[in-house]
This record gives sequence, C-alpha cells and structure tokens, in this order.
Amino acid sequence: MASPRGTVGLRILAYGSALSTYVLIVIGGYVVFSGSGVACGSSGPDSWPLCNGQALPTLSGPVLVEWTHRLFTLVVGLFVLGTTVIAWSRHRQEKRILQLSTISSLVLLGQILLGMATVKTGLDPLVSTAHLAVASALLAVVMLNAITVRRFTTSSDLVLR
Ligand code: HEM
Repeated sequence: MASPRGTVGLRILAYGSALSTYVLIVIGGYVVFSGSGVACGSSGPDSWPLCNGQALPTLSGPVLVEWTHRLFTLVVGLFVLGTTVIAWSRHRQEKRILQLSTISSLVLLGQILLGMATVKTGLDPLVSTAHLAVASALLAVVMLNAITVRRFTTSSDLVLR
C-alpha cells in the first residue's frame, strides 16, 4: 500500500477534479442564463475551437462568459487527465481508482465533443440537454473517485500508525 506522502499528488488531482468540475458546471449555468452560448459563433471552425475566428478573442460581455467556460475546461482537463496518468503510473494496484479515473477521462472527452456539438448546432435543445446530462455524470464519477482516493489514503494513514 502507498505511503501518505506517495499519495499527495493523487489526492490533489482527485480533489481538484471534483472541485474544478463543480465550478465549471456553475460557469456553464451562467453561460445558459446569460444567453452567451453562441457568443463565439455557431458554425465552421470559426466558432470552435476558435472563437469568432480568433484564438484569443476580445474578452468582454457574452464572449468573455463563453470563452471562460471553454478555458476552464482546460483546468478540468489537466486535473482529470492528471489523475488518470498518476493512477496508471503510480497506483496501478488500486483497481477502483484506476477504473474511475479512466472512466472520468473518457466521459470528459465525450463532454468536450458534446460542448463542440452544442456550439455547432446553434444550441440544439437535445444536444444542450445531453451536455447537461454528461456534466452531471462527470461530476458523479470524479466525486466518487475523490471519495475512493480519500478512503485509500486514510487507510494508508492507519497502517502507518
Ligand atoms: C468538462 C467539460 C464541461 C462541462 C462539465 C460543462 C458543463 C456545462 C453545463 C453544466 C452547462 C449548462 C447546461 C444547462 O444548464 O443547460 C454548459 C453549457 C454550455 N457549454 Fe459546457 N461544459 C463543458 C465543456 C464545454 C466545452 C468544451 C464547450 C465548447 C464549446 C462547451 C460549451 C457549452 C455551451 C455553448 C453551453 C451553453 C448551452 C446553452 O446555452 O444551451 N462546454 N456546460
């Protein structure tokens, strides 16, 4: 079993995944309620991954809201993919953590593609609803993983006492 010191990185990444996903969901809600969903455009490469044809658009009003949602996805991505990488490289014996981390990375990938589809379909209600559904699923998986990591590291503490 890993020592608590050896699990610090895993804990930071797993807790960070849960917290950052929650924050991104709140930002997503703001995108919807402020009507900023198509502020970057809604067709062709100009709207995604670019924003109105620019990598760094003028950040104000609805563009700032939509772009912040996209940029924060990068933060979530770093935490979620980081958790998966560290799980596979250092905690391969913890099967549950390995499974949940891998599932969360796959769900994240699907969610990014759905985010793209949300934009490119001009906020089609079915696609937007799927985007919300997958966001909830992602939060469930990363929270479950954070709880599993917490249990794993707490039991490590007990062994050393
Ligand atoms: C982990 C990744 C993501 C999560 C958890 C997430 C979550 C959310 C949530 C919860 C909403 C509000 C949905 C609602 O209340 O109906 C939302 C809205 C939205 N998201 Fe994401 N999102 C993610 C990534 C992306 C990406 C990469 C894009 C790419 C452009 C994107 C584009 C949008 C758009 C355009 C809306 C507004 C939809 C509308 O106005 O109906 N999202 N997101």
